[in-house]
Amino acid sequence: MTSFWSIWVIVLTLACLAIIFGLLLWNLKNYAGVKEGESCGHEFDGIEELNNPLPKWWTYMFFATFIWSVYYLAAYPGLGNWEGLGKWTSSNQGITSLAESKEATEQALANGENVQLDQEFIAADERFGPIFESFAKQDIETLVKDEKALEIGQRLFSQNCAQCHGSDARGGQGFPNLTDNDWLYGGSPDKIKETLLYGRVAAMPPWGDALGEQGIKEMTAHVLSLSGRTVNQKDAAAGAAKFAMCAACHGADGKGSVAHNLPFGAPNLTDNIWLYGGSKRAVEETLINGRAGVMPAWKDILGEDKVHLLTAYVYSLSQDK
Ligand code: HEC
Ligand code: HEC
Repeated sequence: MTSFWSIWVIVLTLACLAIIFGLLLWNLKNYAGVKEGESCGHEFDGIEELNNPLPKWWTYMFFATFIWSVYYLAAYPGLGNWEGLGKWTSSNQGITSLAESKEATEQALANGENVQLDQEFIAADERFGPIFESFAKQDIETLVKDEKALEIGQRLFSQNCAQCHGSDARGGQGFPNLTDNDWLYGGSPDKIKETLLYGRVAAMPPWGDALGEQGIKEMTAHVLSLSGRTVNQKDAAAGAAKFAMCAACHGADGKGSVAHNLPFGAPNLTDNIWLYGGSKRAVEETLINGRAGVMPAWKDILGEDKVHLLTAYVYSLSQDK
């Protein structure tokens, strides 16, 4: 706000308060020259105005709200650019990245500023930090049997992961199902933790130009045949002949990166479980334009201790199935 508008807001707010206060004081006095309880001499459609003071309870409440408003305007930002005696701020305004936010938090702490959100995070860390730490010392196999740990893991999942993977972790178009033991990057505790800590960026290249229209049709037929679908045999055979270009990531048998101990996150194409859909249209779309799913990295956002618990929770989802 420029200082003109700041002053404008301050003047208007204070003038408003003054007028309201004046109005109250004026109404506290009895009507001039008339005794309490008697008519003021006004009558509208048979209804007479008597000279009665404002009820006491109402008057006290009014004074209380008035005093509150003066306190509030002095303590908190709200009067134009006035930052308030309490130096309260709602958040790190204008910040766009996690690194900037961390820097601003540290700066505010160093300056002794009281940023409420930061204070709440610090208080929560002090309160819950030791709990997460004690869980972080246990290995995943132990945590999977600990109901309390899984309950906290589930809550973390609802807060941070459900928007993409669904509240039941069954995923959706482009977001993998985490409950089915079909993995892009591996379902061991170590692999899951690696996924959560550092994130994953998939790179399925586009093949539209390399294969051409006929080539895409043939490759689609071959891909669908891998999971037992009925397809045009001639097309599928032509596609199979070119599958070497896919084998580097999906493996020569199409069983995917995990089956061949590769790090690419290329799905198993033989199991009829689809990340992007198994219709002819969806597979063609994948082959023509490529796909690039992004799983965010959580190390800096949640910290290793919480990721450890989340790993146990995610790992538990595909056990006993
Ligand atoms: C912004 C959306 C998004 C959020 C939020 C998200 N994920 Fe993911 N996640 C993905 C995508 C997309 C993939 C698949 C990446 C790919 O296509 O290779 C993925 C992959 C994974 C995988 C690997 C699955 C496999 O088959 O190997 C795991 C495990 C996982 N996410 C767990 C989580 C957990 C736990 C959280 C919460 C801390 C989370 N994700 C939050 C989008 C998200
Ligand atoms: C550089 C490695 C790489 C190569 C080469 C590659 N892919 Fe992929 N492919 C991937 C990855 C990674 C994904 C997963 C994309 C994602 O998660 O966003 C994928 C996804 C797919 C999917 C989607 C599967 C689903 O469940 O929805 C199909 C189908 C597919 N690839 C077929 C092929 C075919 C056919 C070829 C050869 C013409 C090929 N890929 C070549 C890495 C590769």
